[in-house]
Amino acid sequence: MTEVTVAQASEPFPADRAGCEALDQRDPLRDFRFRFDLPSGVIYLDGNSLGAMPAAVPAALERGARNGWAERLIRSWNELDWHNLPVRAGERLAPLMGAAPGEVLVADTTSINLYKLLFAALQMRPDRKTIVSERNNFPTDLHILQGALKTSFAGHRLVLAEDDDDGVRTLIGADTAVVCLSHVNYRSGRLRDMKAVTKAAHEAGALVIWDLCHSLGAVPVDLGVAEVDFAVGCTYKYLNGGPGSPAWLYVAARHLQQATNPLTGWQGHAAPFAFDINYAPAATIEKFRVGTPPVLSYLPLLESLQIFAEAEMTQLRAKSLQLTDFFIHRVESELAEFGFEVLTPRDHDERGSQVALGHEQAWPITQALIEAGVIGDFRAPDILRFGFTPLYVGYTDVWDATAALTTIMRSGQWREPRFSVKKLVT
Ligand SMILES: Cc1ncc(COP(=O)(O)O)c(C=O)c1O
Repeated sequence: MTEVTVAQASEPFPADRAGCEALDQRDPLRDFRFRFDLPSGVIYLDGNSLGAMPAAVPAALERGARNGWAERLIRSWNELDWHNLPVRAGERLAPLMGAAPGEVLVADTTSINLYKLLFAALQMRPDRKTIVSERNNFPTDLHILQGALKTSFAGHRLVLAEDDDDGVRTLIGADTAVVCLSHVNYRSGRLRDMKAVTKAAHEAGALVIWDLCHSLGAVPVDLGVAEVDFAVGCTYKYLNGGPGSPAWLYVAARHLQQATNPLTGWQGHAAPFAFDINYAPAATIEKFRVGTPPVLSYLPLLESLQIFAEAEMTQLRAKSLQLTDFFIHRVESELAEFGFEVLTPRDHDERGSQVALGHEQAWPITQALIEAGVIGDFRAPDILRFGFTPLYVGYTDVWDATAALTTIMRSGQWREPRFSVKKLVT
């Protein structure tokens, strides 16, 4: 394992911009920034929502479109092994989550994958009627659970925990079939103790489904060690797969035989090209395929995973914690008078790779910041979110971003009416 040489927690925070530049110079991850195509003059703190584009992506898409589609046409399904992209991408993703080959499939969206795995898990616990989730989960997770209960599992009930892990544990009992939680909360950035919660669920005889949308690629994850049953996540945030890139699902090998995909599309069939009208599921993770994969949408992800294959996760995590510590320190030292509340836990064991600030004027402040070249985002009703992607964000970025925020708050610039105009996508 490579030695971690980024600034350690005991080291004082840089006192000026030159100190940040010196830290960036010493950063062993600094060259990864050049593997991404980021616009100049922009500080990008939204990689937790849409990751930056790997610089190799346009050429990969050009090859896929020109050589694959235009020239070789339908022959590319075989010649370029397009059909196996969901499995091949899953194999490339597996090491990032401590999964074995054959346990990960890249397909569909997180919402659809959650539905598939929820159905599979509930069928594996037929005598239990309770699903435990969390009140502050990302809405789609709760919507999928609610919809499944309404349409297919009418006798079941959903109980919702608060943010703390103890609250989850107290809700888990003899009737719990499934515990379905986010590893990192999309608003607060709080990181759950995956191993401990999974253990508590298992001790009660329940299964777990983890949503890793806000952790995979930014936080070390080992689903095997934590003995996780099922997991889902997207690839367009920290994994830089591009807007709307296909999501992934994980099924522990020990459950593969028993777990059933409710969406019995032709590509999950044991022999899709036999065109048998009777459904017979594949014996492998491919049983969780549904329909034709969006081939071109996989190509950026493969480029990004090449970058991850060259990066050391312990270094990424160390730098992410340094950046978020430094950002919190700057907010508290420079912006104390402006009423921001740091909502993200201080404890490293409870922090993902983002910092959330509560402020009643979060929307116009975010818009003013974006105009100043610092891109974060807003989550209703009152949160400014800043994602720190250690592959391409540096200490000087933290300095400059907090300096820009200070200027906006001191000048009152955020009060300009145009910053209050609402937009469809936040
Ligand atoms: C925790 C979490 N789950 C799910 C989703 C979205 O899922 P989908 O890929 O189905 O849009 C998001 C999107 O931001 C998310 O943050």
